[in-house]
Amino acid sequence: MPLGGNEIVILRSSDEIERLRASNIIVAEILNELKGNVKTGVSTIDLERICEEEVRKRKVIPAFKGYRGYPYCICTSVNEQVVHGMPSKRVLKGGDIVSIDLGILHNGYYGDSAVTVPVGRVSEEVNRLIDVAEKALYLGINEARVGSRLSDIGAAIQGYVEANGFSVVRDFVGHGIGQSLHEAPQVPNFGVRGKGVRLKAGMVLAIEPMINMGRCEVVILGDGWTAVTKDGSLSAHFEHSIAITNNEPYILSRL
Ligand code: MF3
Ligand code: CO
Repeated sequence: MPLGGNEIVILRSSDEIERLRASNIIVAEILNELKGNVKTGVSTIDLERICEEEVRKRKVIPAFKGYRGYPYCICTSVNEQVVHGMPSKRVLKGGDIVSIDLGILHNGYYGDSAVTVPVGRVSEEVNRLIDVAEKALYLGINEARVGSRLSDIGAAIQGYVEANGFSVVRDFVGHGIGQSLHEAPQVPNFGVRGKGVRLKAGMVLAIEPMINMGRCEVVILGDGWTAVTKDGSLSAHFEHSIAITNNEPYILSRL
């Protein structure tokens, strides 16, 4: 979601968190199925078709389709595409990387998660980009604890990514998630510690770092959706929806 103002952060009951868990398990299952279909020769629209079938079987609502006019269930962002890539006839080939992002609505609650997967074999440096992006997500999640501040999440992500020689995208951020796909607060993947709202049990956040191999700037293509790196470097994206609890962060979108 784009950057904007901040509002009250809704605290969810444990009953609501279990509903969010149910929605996010469905997202995780479908993403797993899609991941298993990523290989040379498969097009991104093939992945969309598989996803359509999976949401139909489960009788859930794809959350992105129709959101601000977005026409597909998933976003498929290949190579230098950062986020919001649209499924197309583009055929994946060995050495590519593809981020698959899926949101669904089920029983009134949303799930949202994304993964980046290599197509066939990729170079060591590209594998490192994917690994750093995923590890950065988990380091961010690890900050999502009662008493911490919102910016501790982004600070942990940025610190790790930059220490590894990559950059964090600034133009898109994570978000609260619940009975809407995007709720307050915005969750930047960068910043300094000790700023923003104090984290409380019951807050539910979608944390979604986007990491570029080169510079952090992005450009939106003429289709109005696809964000690409300005310098053409590769980009990786991981997202989990998580709940803050009195114990460990609860990763709702992990199987
Ligand atoms: N995970 C992304 C987000 O929360 C995907 C949104 S795609 C859109 O912003 F089509 F719904 F915009
Ligand atoms: Co999201």
